[in-house]
Amino acid sequence: MNILNKIIVAFVQMMPRSIVWIFSKKYIAGKTLDDAVQLVKKLNEKNIYATIDVLGEAIQNKDEAVIAKNECLQVLNTIQENNLKANLSLKPTQLGLNLDPEFAYQQVGEILKRASELNNFVRLDMEDSPYTDATINLYKKLIRDYDNVGIVVQAYLKRTFDDVVIMNKLNTNYRLCKGIYVEPATIAYKDKQAIRNSYMGSLEKMLKSGNYVGIATHDEYLINEAYKMIKELKVTNDKFEFQMLLGVREDLRDKINSDGFKIRIYIPFGEHWYKYSIRRLKENPSIAGHVFKNIFFMK
Ligand code: FDA
Repeated sequence: MNILNKIIVAFVQMMPRSIVWIFSKKYIAGKTLDDAVQLVKKLNEKNIYATIDVLGEAIQNKDEAVIAKNECLQVLNTIQENNLKANLSLKPTQLGLNLDPEFAYQQVGEILKRASELNNFVRLDMEDSPYTDATINLYKKLIRDYDNVGIVVQAYLKRTFDDVVIMNKLNTNYRLCKGIYVEPATIAYKDKQAIRNSYMGSLEKMLKSGNYVGIATHDEYLINEAYKMIKELKVTNDKFEFQMLLGVREDLRDKINSDGFKIRIYIPFGEHWYKYSIRRLKENPSIAGHVFKNIFFMK
């Protein structure tokens, strides 16, 4: 299967961009912020919330990180101007975490300050394992000064339960996901059920401590288990929401919404959609399977 997925990745790279766009557009709002705004408006009409992400490539220098910061500020201002039910997600390396953690702290701090003025919220996405410690450290530093910042944890990492135990003490607002990058077996669970068990173990720990959780998954098994846990623990609706990626399992999204639970969709947009799509495919060739289905079966 892995080899097949790698072949699909190579095949996709040989296709003209216009063709790649046909399947990418399912997962990406468009090239401009206005594309994202129009999409979020439509979702908001259905009482579906959004988190907006500016697509970017790994930055090479501080000037590029400053451009990324300004784009984030523009997103926050635009959310306010359009009265959208949306917040911001950002990748810490886009803001300079890979260059200089102190610089990244200043940059994200500026974004949080503006978000706070606008009564909005910002979540730090979690990238691959070389950045796990740096991202958690960044979060711990930011949470001292700002209460409108949250973090993502990845259930496939063996360390996550211990991270949750520590971050629960900081009144952390989490997004809990499985994790999308290819990580070595020394640090990450590989077995599907082991990842699900880790997910539910962390979710229980978070909910029992009264922390807010964005339950980010399209896995029906996990969604059903989360429903059961919420009921058993008598968790109130102000302590969690469900989250999904744009273009994935819209049937489940609508079900969660009609069941009366809050649901938020991750909305990526930006000029860098092509590089981003190809990079994500290379990072995790198993996504290629979904892409393949989308190209040929237009699911
Ligand atoms: P699983 O991979 O088992 O998928 C369940 C089902 O959903 C599949 O069988 C398929 O039907 C469908 N599906 C899933 N992904 C699909 C796709 N791309 N295209 C088509 N169908 C698909 N990861 C990370 O490392 N850091 C992060 O910060 C984030 N942020 C994030 C935000 C939000 C809102 C979500 C929903 C997810 C993330 N992720 C993430 C990604 C996450 O780690 C994970 O890779 C995906 O959500 C897929 O895992 P599932 O839990 O959905 O299960």
